[in-house]
Amino acid sequence: MILPDGYSDVPAGKIAAVVTHLEMTERPSLRSDPEGAWTLRRVPSPDLHWFRDLYRRVGEEWLWFSRLQMTDADLAAIVRSPMVEVCALVHEGRDEGLLELDFRQAGQCELAFFGVTAGLIGGGAGRWLMNRAMELAWSRQVTRVWVHTCTLDHPSALAFYRRSGFRPLRRQIEIADDPRLDGTMPRRAAKHVPIVE
Ligand SMILES: CC(C)(COP(=O)(O)OP(=O)(O)OC[C@H]1O[C@@H](n2cnc3c(N)ncnc32)[C@H](O)[C@@H]1OP(=O)(O)O)[C@@H](O)C(=O)NCCC(=O)NCCS
Repeated sequence: MILPDGYSDVPAGKIAAVVTHLEMTERPSLRSDPEGAWTLRRVPSPDLHWFRDLYRRVGEEWLWFSRLQMTDADLAAIVRSPMVEVCALVHEGRDEGLLELDFRQAGQCELAFFGVTAGLIGGGAGRWLMNRAMELAWSRQVTRVWVHTCTLDHPSALAFYRRSGFRPLRRQIEIADDPRLDGTMPRRAAKHVPIVE
């Protein structure tokens, strides 16, 4: 459906975001690795409680809700797929960043989830994790790596992805029930997006 020009009402109780899809079709040259005590831990067949906990700690502030509303079976089918690679960025012995690479579409890799916890934002861990993501994504037979980000995400995300070598190619509007109103996440999450009831 194409929205008309001008303002469109979003019903109370819903959230709305502008989504930008970005892609790269060649292996990019990596940007400098910032100095930091981070390691990458590959997590084959992740425990679902572990996955949801890290997903929440990284994404709750940015209203990442999709994975929190999935049944165990649906979530396991994705994160335990042999074509999906889940990794954690480890900082001081704790998992503080999430990277999920989805190779289920032949020849492509989707950077499905990417982010670090609040305390690590702006300190270089994101760039370090992106460099590891690029190494993993392009180590397989792919001709396209893509990602999408939206206006609910961290405000630096879009520019960060562009500096990483992704080019914007598509824009969408996403409307969804506000996940703070149905118990998916607490009402205090994402203060930058007020609840409209
Ligand atoms: C999006 C996100 C990954 C961006 O990361 P960030 O924390 O802003 O980025 P960093 O601080 O790691 O890096 C930014 C730049 O500062 C530089 N930098 C930061 N700290 C540095 C340090 N101590 N030493 C050297 N360089 C440093 C990095 O090298 C990088 O430079 P470059 O982009 O020119 O290569 C991060 O904000 C995040 O995880 N947000 C929450 C989840 C989210 O919104 N995810 C994206 C949506 S899908």
